[in-house]
This record gives sequence, structure tokens and C-alpha cells, in this order.
Amino acid sequence: MKISVIGTGYVGIIQAVGLAEFGFEVVGIDIDESKVKALNSGECPLYEEGLEELLKKHVNKNLTFTTSYEPIKDSEVIFLCVGTPQDKDGNADLRFLFSAVEKIKETIDKEDYKVIVIKSTVPVGTNRKVKELLRGYNVDVVSNPEFLREGIAVYDFFNPERIILGFESLDKKKPIEIMKKVYNYFEGKNVPFVITNWETAELIKYASNAFLATKISFINEIAKLADKVGADIKNISYAMGLDPRIGNKFLNAGIGYGGSCFPKDVKALIKQFENNNIEPILIKATDRVNEEQIKWFFEKIKNYYGNLNGKTFAILGLAFKPNTDDLRESRAIKLIDMVLDSGAIVKGFDYVEKARENTTNMYKLNKSKAFYGYNLYVLDDLYETVKDVDGIIITVEYDFNKEDWEKIANLVKEKVVFDGRNVLDVKKIKKLGFKYYGVGR
Ligand code: UDX
Repeated sequence: MKISVIGTGYVGIIQAVGLAEFGFEVVGIDIDESKVKALNSGECPLYEEGLEELLKKHVNKNLTFTTSYEPIKDSEVIFLCVGTPQDKDGNADLRFLFSAVEKIKETIDKEDYKVIVIKSTVPVGTNRKVKELLRGYNVDVVSNPEFLREGIAVYDFFNPERIILGFESLDKKKPIEIMKKVYNYFEGKNVPFVITNWETAELIKYASNAFLATKISFINEIAKLADKVGADIKNISYAMGLDPRIGNKFLNAGIGYGGSCFPKDVKALIKQFENNNIEPILIKATDRVNEEQIKWFFEKIKNYYGNLNGKTFAILGLAFKPNTDDLRESRAIKLIDMVLDSGAIVKGFDYVEKARENTTNMYKLNKSKAFYGYNLYVLDDLYETVKDVDGIIITVEYDFNKEDWEKIANLVKEKVVFDGRNVLDVKKIKKLGFKYYGVGR
């Protein structure tokens, strides 16, 4: 079976490479010529464990990339994986999706049967709209949302919790059969297939992400109280998680969620409620708690010093979570901006080289005064980063315990740590003379 994947961003590359590994003949299509060129020579434009190896294994064999839409003529299945960013009002911006649909219309013959699969995260009603745009064409439209976690997206692709497939009607067997063939790899592997209608599939994606975001905001709110009354949020999370109805996942308090999905999807879901004249009471609160969490943490830092002007801080973690170079909605970057704005100097570090590179480039591109005024330094070595600082701030949930804290204690100017992800072994740190401030502990 020949399959086209339109959009070779984060989701598209993984989808294309994954389908190639299943054995299909795959063409990835993108408007960005330099990206296509890089991909065809086996270079992966983003950092994701195991992805470049798989790309190299299949590229120019059963996987190619192009800027032309021509290959979709021979494809039975066409995946749409273009970005759906947030517009200025918080809605999902569907421009790229609709422009891809227009190009499909210009390219395929009306009579040629195709299955168009929407993998991009789209608001309820979008699959229906796309089908409407393709009126008169012999196509079926399928909703197939993704649930890939950055950093382990390749693993997630081959080990999904579930495959969601939304159809116009469950009476029409052909598109269902074709989609089962596409995901035949998972047959007999205990992966539940949820076969449903478009609207349900679309909402499953938003509801799942909003629920996880709500779990995080919930524990973050409890953490504020724990902080005040001298309770330990880590023990609270642990004990709550022992109840299988609650579960221990996504109950880690911190400085809030970031990334390309949760903040945007929560906001887009709020808009969908509002567009349907329903007040999204809980989900709005989830968003608000998240926006406030980082400010609350920054206040904690400010309260300790009184005035941050002229102080130097090591910020450990730049990307929105471990093992990624993705800075989108990164709480670390938000905190860096707050610290810089208060007149302090920041030395930033992340274990992922590309995350450091992206941070430098971002501030340079913005022609930021912070960078050109030399208030921000991005360093390649953690020990260099902590040297002579007035405080260490942890922003990403890496296991920093594996570092030599005796050495760190000798390098810093003042022994104080603000642990925004509650990752440090508090006893050990305190024994070395550090003052410790976590989130709710
Ligand atoms: C998420 C979803 O997990 C995935 O299913 C969906 O398809 C895309 O969005 P991702 O954005 O890669 O994936 O990140 P995830 O690992 O879920 O973490 C999101 C954010 O939540 C990070 O900033 C992380 O630091 C934060 N987080 C996570 C917490 O603050 N506490 C937790 O307990 C878990």
C-alpha cells in the first residue's frame, strides 16, 4: 500500500518513518524545501530518540520526501499532519490544514478513491468540514488523533495505549477495513482500537490532554497549600497515587506544564466550549492555575533575596521537559525572562545540546537585549553553569541527583537551590549546607 504523509513536522516525520517501518511505501510531503532535502539525506531536523536511525534505515528505500503533491495520486491513504497552532484568540488555526486540502483537491482525480486521515489536532467539527470541502470527490475522511509524548515519541508510536479512529458512518466498511490494514502491525498486540464517529474521536484527543493538564494543575494547587502549612507534596502525590482510581501518573507538582500540546490544546478546548455557549468552568481553572504557578514560584525566589538586581542564577533545564530540544511554552524560558527582567544574570544549561543551541538562537533572533547585553549565558557544562552563582534554579525534571553535589557546593557563591520540579534528594542537599526550596515541600 502506498501512503502519503503531508506535513513533516514533529508528528508527520514520526508517522512517515513509523509507517515505513511497518513496510508501506511512504512519501512525506512538505513545503519546506531545505527540510525535504535534509530528510532525503537522512538528517532529522528534530531531536527524538531513535528517529534518525529509523529515518536512515528507510530513506530512499521505501521512504522519500518531496515538496510536490504529485505522489498523492498513487496513494490510497493520505495522512494530514500539518500544524494547527494557536491563533491570537486561542482557537486552533486551521489555515495549514485547509490549504493542504485545497492542494489535494487540485491534485487528485475526483473519481480516484482515497482515504484522507486527519492526524493533526483539530477542533470538533473539522473532519466534517474537510469532508464538505471535498464534496464531489470519491474520498472518505478519517479522524486519527495522535498521543505521542515528546522525547519518547518513537516508542509511543510503536507501543500505543489505543488507536482512535473516527468515521463519518460506521455502516461504510471500506475506510474501516483500510485503516485496519494501515495499523495491522498492532493486531494481536493488545492495543485497543476505538472505532467511533468523527466528533467523538476529535473530542477524545482534547479531553485526554485537558484531563492530564488538569491533574497537573490540581496537584500544583494542592502544592501551594502544602508549602504554606508544612506538608510534603511528594508524599501526598505518592499516597494519593496508591489509590488505583487516582493513579500515580501526572501527579508531580512543579512549575506547571509546557510544550506544544497541553497549553495550546487546553486553550483551544476552552474556545470550543465558548463557541458552543457552554462555560468551561474546570478547564479554564486548569489553564489559570498553570499560568499562575510559575509566577508563584518566582515570588518564592524573590522573597528569599528581596532584590534580584545584579544576582546571578544557574537555571538548570531549558526545554519544556527532559530529553527534548523543544522550547515551546517552556516554563524554563518563562522563568529566564522573569529573572532577567528583574535585573539578574542568568547562566542556562540543558543536557540536550540542541536545546542549548535553540535557546541561544531564540534570544539572538529576537535581538534580545538580554543576550546582547550579556545578561544571559548558555553554557555547555553544568559545573561551569553553577560556578559563582547566588542560587540554583531547577526547571526541568532531570535526575540532577546523579551530579556531584559536593563539587557543586564548592563552586557556588551561595548554597541555595530552588527546585521547581522536586527532583532533588533534600536530605543530601541540606547535609551539604544548601538551603532548599521546592514546590510544596
Ligand atoms: C503531551 C501528552 O502526554 C501526549 O499524550 C500528547 O499527545 C501531547 O502532549 P508532551 O507535550 O510531549 O505530551 O509532554 P508530557 O510528557 O505529557 O509533559 C507535558 C508537560 O507537563 C511538561 O512540561 C511536564 O514538565 C509537565 N508535567 C508532566 C508536570 O508538570 N507534572 C507531571 O506530573 C507530568
